[in-house]
Amino acid sequence: MKKLLSLILTLAMLTMLAACGGGDTPAPNGSNQSTANQTYNVGLLQLVEHPSLDEIRTAIEAELADKGYGDVIKIDYVNGQNDATTMNTAAQKFVADGDDAIIAIATNAAQSVAAATQDIPIIFSAVTDPVAAELVSDLSAPDGNVTGISDYIDVAAIFGLAEELTPDVQTYGFIYNMGEVNSVSVIEQAKAYLDAKGIAYEEAFVTNIGEVTTAAQSLVGKVDAFFLPIDNTVASAMSNVADIANANQIPVYTAADSMVNDGGLATAGVNYTQLGKQTADMLIRILIDGESVADNPVEVLTEYSVTVNPETAAAIGVDVSAYTAE
Ligand code: TRP
Repeated sequence: MKKLLSLILTLAMLTMLAACGGGDTPAPNGSNQSTANQTYNVGLLQLVEHPSLDEIRTAIEAELADKGYGDVIKIDYVNGQNDATTMNTAAQKFVADGDDAIIAIATNAAQSVAAATQDIPIIFSAVTDPVAAELVSDLSAPDGNVTGISDYIDVAAIFGLAEELTPDVQTYGFIYNMGEVNSVSVIEQAKAYLDAKGIAYEEAFVTNIGEVTTAAQSLVGKVDAFFLPIDNTVASAMSNVADIANANQIPVYTAADSMVNDGGLATAGVNYTQLGKQTADMLIRILIDGESVADNPVEVLTEYSVTVNPETAAAIGVDVSAYTAE
């Protein structure tokens, strides 16, 4: 009887040991180091789905996979629907989940997540003017939990291209959302540039995607060309703007290649796949290599390349052959 009892006890202890000893069981991949199985959770908030922001997100995910972190870094993606409430809710969820880092694509998304946490590292992607957006006070020395990659816009490059392609423009029409600091910042630059040249401009404002068509129509007959800053609201309805402009022979200069692909005439802009890659690389340094936010100054893309839309050019009779020839 005593022997049986001790046998039962021994069995019970063995069972308990086996239950606690999971860490010693070789992992399916053959590694028996528990750290090899560590995963990280990263919230990813994208302001809205339009081609350029989608391109960035795709590039981030591709770079994480290429560098071998596809299964190690788990992305919890939320589309902010260009809506402040949706974005604030997403930001609070990332914080409540205890995410290891947060990526925010576009300015207003970054502002939502920055308002939700002062602790979790935030890496923004494609924020045009991070200082004006009050995400950092100094690009070269982030002193909080926020850093990232900026798509600074060089209006002189875009207007220089416009002067070459359509030299007779006397009045530009701007369409933008004043609730996007990124747009306001580029428009301020544009106004300073055009004022210095004595070229006039008219403005049409939008507060949501549904207002973009009316805004574009309101400028027809008043302007010789459109200049569209890096505005997410306008980019989300770009084909509507292009339809109106092209039907009225109005050249459209934009701040992003995606808006040219969606029917605009031309831009000199940055490469958003490259921008997404740099975003992922910064995330890897902070999450995996143990670097801090302060170790990572804001990276600003400054390589601009010209994109033209040959179909639009043909439709409105502008010669873009200088940029399409081999
Ligand atoms: N730079 C924009 C921002 O700060 C985001 C953006 C990236 C964008 N690519 C774009 C906006 C293309 C319009 C079109 O929010």
